[in-house]
Amino acid sequence: MPSVFGHLPRARLATLPTPLERGSELPGGARLWMKRDDLTGLGMGGNKARKLEFLCGAAVAQGARSLVTVGAAQSNHCRMTAAAGAMLGLEVHLVLSGDAPAVPTGNLLLSNLFGAQQHFTGSEESHWGELEIAREALANELRAAGAEPYSIPIGGSTPVGAVGYAVAFVELMQQCQAFDVTPAAIVHTSSSGGTHAGLLAGRALWRLEGHDVPEVLAIGVAKGVNMGMPNIADLARDTIELIGGDRSILDRGDVRVDPNWMGHDYGVPTRAGDAAIRWAARHGGWVLDRVYSGKGFAGLVGNAEAGRWAAGNDVVFIHTGGTPAIFAAGGVPPGR
Ligand SMILES: Cc1ncc(COP(=O)(O)O)c(C=O)c1O
Repeated sequence: MPSVFGHLPRARLATLPTPLERGSELPGGARLWMKRDDLTGLGMGGNKARKLEFLCGAAVAQGARSLVTVGAAQSNHCRMTAAAGAMLGLEVHLVLSGDAPAVPTGNLLLSNLFGAQQHFTGSEESHWGELEIAREALANELRAAGAEPYSIPIGGSTPVGAVGYAVAFVELMQQCQAFDVTPAAIVHTSSSGGTHAGLLAGRALWRLEGHDVPEVLAIGVAKGVNMGMPNIADLARDTIELIGGDRSILDRGDVRVDPNWMGHDYGVPTRAGDAAIRWAARHGGWVLDRVYSGKGFAGLVGNAEAGRWAAGNDVVFIHTGGTPAIFAAGGVPPGR
């Protein structure tokens, strides 16, 4: 099965497979499993390492000499792109929200350390449209200057990037088989949609081989994904096509997004997210963050409490990372 991905250019950047850890019982009695994609290695780990393997593979295959990407100032994706560029000898340009801080912390500190050039736009961190326009403008400037950039949209959520999570789905199913576990659901945090689309692409291909497949439940932490942008079914179908499969194997009904855990906006902490961060820290020593994985895990716990899964069911949370952000101002929940 993994050989179906073999024809796509891939840069080996991540430490794979990531561990699958057995966790404790969830409220309601389902059993938690933690898929440690916070431990992908690249530049302190996280989900973007898997996407960057294929994005950077494509960049190198096209003869790119630089990478350009975009995100919030504390973007994990930007930090890992900076690390990937350092590993591959590519110059990296990051288009970031807000203004340059006097003292860089968290992801910004690391992107600096990896040698990326940071371009602050002054824009709000949730104004992704403005950031994308600035990325395109910078990519055009670099192209004109002969820097041969490979330009990566926010979160790396193109079909090429999403292939990384089609591969991850298969990896996870093989680990579940080894543990003799048949999960009822795979739950993860979603913001630009590529992780979700990739998982659904992998799930459709795995189902085509005659396997039973778990539900994939995305917890939306940004307004776009919660309103259906990007269109996850279309992105997953484009991903399947890129891998060499038939688009029609994915059903629109396969797409499940729970939009109830974002709170006021992307990047604004929630009480449920903070409570979930404490739960994960105290039940498994897992470190979640307030922008992504804390809210995603709050969605898993909330659905478990509401009885979505029966006692004894196995439920996998994909820990997509975000750890360095806890070392930025406001990165850890106040109080006990
Ligand atoms: C830690 C973390 N979790 C989850 C996500 C969401 O992944 P995607 O953008 O593929 O939806 C991101 C994206 O930036 C992230 O940094």
